Amino acid sequence: METIQSISYPIVFNDDFAALNQFIQQGNYSKVFFLVDEQTEKHCLPLLISQLQISEYDLIEITSGEINKTIDFCIGIWRMLIDFGADRNSLLINVGGGVITDIGGFAASTFKRGIDFVQIPTTLLAQVDASVGGKTGIDMDHLKNIIGTFAQPNAVFIDTFFLRTLPKRQLISGFAEMLKHGLISDRAYFDLLKEASPETIDPELIYHSITIKNEVVKQDPEEKGLRKILNFGHTVGHAIESYSLQHDAMPLTHGEAIAIGMVCEAFLSVEKTELTAAELVEIMETLGRFYEKYTIKEVSVPALIELMKSDKKNNSGKINCSLLTQIGQCAIDCFCNEEELCRSLFAYQKSYHAKLGFRP
Ligand code: GLY
Repeated sequence: METIQSISYPIVFNDDFAALNQFIQQGNYSKVFFLVDEQTEKHCLPLLISQLQISEYDLIEITSGEINKTIDFCIGIWRMLIDFGADRNSLLINVGGGVITDIGGFAASTFKRGIDFVQIPTTLLAQVDASVGGKTGIDMDHLKNIIGTFAQPNAVFIDTFFLRTLPKRQLISGFAEMLKHGLISDRAYFDLLKEASPETIDPELIYHSITIKNEVVKQDPEEKGLRKILNFGHTVGHAIESYSLQHDAMPLTHGEAIAIGMVCEAFLSVEKTELTAAELVEIMETLGRFYEKYTIKEVSVPALIELMKSDKKNNSGKINCSLLTQIGQCAIDCFCNEEELCRSLFAYQKSYHAKLGFRP
């Protein structure tokens, strides 16, 4: 499929890494580093190396998982770059999911005031979301992506072949961001996704999601306005994700938390931005087919609200949401008070019947 041009870099899709080879040769880099986790070292790196004509590279490995997207792991990456003699003409190739592309992009964008980096997203979530648009960062004090930069990669290379080894739960996680793309800007695409299966996802759908995200970030790279539509479901969703990471034995994935956030924010959309009750039911029934019920315990609600109050999208202490005006259209800067947010959490809890769909 055709290469997608982003803000300042190409997003190359399913080309067997021919373009990456060319990119590395032409870059004349002093050193090439791969950042991987234990999963991508095992499942992705061998294929990648076999496709590339590079004689020398260094490997930096971190442990997978959102709980490791921290300053400590970032220091580990910087230290390895220093120990291996990285200079300003070095290249960092991030091979992995959203954690690797976020922390790797952040480490590269700050090392020696910034070195070149490319993203090779290997999860569905990273392919349709994290690797595109230049958001890099780490978590701190359980706040998601609270430290970070806007730093555009030099290129993104996406190969859907890597999804073959991905567990079902990870595919369903990435699928939430695809559903979001339909909900915020493309009703016909949302309808198509209703019939799709995350486990055997058609590369054309992945490509379409990337084009939707890319069109948005090209117009507003630093999230001054339009790009905020990509945050639909994320004010509530990030709080639920952070809470789950701290309290659940088996924490929610990002996409599972965002799916819950999208349902809560669809409730808010009916209250505040004229989403119809019929559209709400349609959203709940669609998401109810893909995502299991999660119990939002009453005791967790104050902590969830506190997390939302610390969300980086807030302005002058007001909690900021992006809400739907209809399926396929999204409004930005919708400020919600604590009472409204509590109501949406309770509405989710009351109405989500796993497998049976939702009842508002
Ligand atoms: N993940 C939302 C964005 O990149 O803006």
